[in-house]
Amino acid sequence: MGNDAMTDPDGPAPEDRDDRSGARVTPDVDLRHHGDAEIGPGLVDLAVNVRLAEPPSWLVHRLATSLRDLAAYPDTTRARAAIAARHRRPVADVLPTAGAAEAFVLLARTLTPRHAVVVHPQFTEPEAALRAAGHPVDRVLLDERDGFALDPARIPESADLVVLGNPTNPTSVLHPATTIAALARPGRILVVDEAFADTVPGEPESVADRRDLPGLVVVRSLTKTWALAGLRIGYVLASPDLVRILTDAQPLWSVSTPALIAAEACCTPEALAQAEALAVTLAADRSYLVERLRTVPGMRLPVVPRSSFVLARTEGGPEIRKQLRERGYAVRRADTFPGLGPDWLRIAVRDRATTLAFAAALEGVVR
Ligand SMILES: Cc1ncc(COP(=O)(O)O)c(C=O)c1O
Repeated sequence: MGNDAMTDPDGPAPEDRDDRSGARVTPDVDLRHHGDAEIGPGLVDLAVNVRLAEPPSWLVHRLATSLRDLAAYPDTTRARAAIAARHRRPVADVLPTAGAAEAFVLLARTLTPRHAVVVHPQFTEPEAALRAAGHPVDRVLLDERDGFALDPARIPESADLVVLGNPTNPTSVLHPATTIAALARPGRILVVDEAFADTVPGEPESVADRRDLPGLVVVRSLTKTWALAGLRIGYVLASPDLVRILTDAQPLWSVSTPALIAAEACCTPEALAQAEALAVTLAADRSYLVERLRTVPGMRLPVVPRSSFVLARTEGGPEIRKQLRERGYAVRRADTFPGLGPDWLRIAVRDRATTLAFAAALEGVVR
């Protein structure tokens, strides 16, 4: 992710097309562009959605201690048990992965969809993984005018694989669990990317604990809330049959011992309480950012954001982004998300002091 010309933060804005693209057709947008390509020395990072600057000290300590065990091959037993207990599911429903990103690749390599549908705008790796595995991808583009809400009727009945994010990156929309449930049916795999589910206090719309929805696959990440992007840890929750298939396709020892220790540590009641407290703080910090953005001339927020980032629209987006970089702030271009264009920006929620300074820089740019 995030290398050379493909990820030039100021590269030409890709054209947006609403079509059914064949697997071997070059995508209209750079699906492999991610926020990490937009940060750099001396820039305040509002582009990447990792929430803390570093993992909490108790977690760093656990990771450091785990290094003594590196002589042994990783054993997933304890991490799987901890994840299963955290979601009140059997251990057979759980597969730890090297981040959510590995889960998307395993799903793409093992599933054989006849009609794969990805709901956009959303994180682009699921589509990239499907295309790389040779599957044609059909896009359903949600509309700003509907607040990027999802009407289940928009998903074609013929879709035997549906992928969506909840809450969704980059729109920050939280779809109701009832909407998600309405998409599940026998003969269809429904992949819900819940990488940001724990940014919402109480996780009211999460379906991670649901075993009653046919074909449901939930993908979770521990890299955002716990600042573990460099460690690579996430997991899949699905039926035992699918977990077995994914396990067979996963490279042996793909998830390292420190990553498995992190998974176990992040499932304790204490860690879950800390995640909940972080989500509550985040909501307040996000309200502050939204208030500031609403005072900026020409800045439009199409939805009430529910996650750790805010999607905004303003004319002259590329120039504003460029000038913000000159003033020391990196925000995420959003034209690499299907369905959005150059005037969209994604801004990470940070602490109030950072937001205040950023808002002042933004005011200076737009006036
Ligand atoms: C919505 C979403 N899902 C999944 C991921 C990947 O997470 P991980 O670091 O666990 O691979 C990202 C990373 O940006 C994301 O934004």
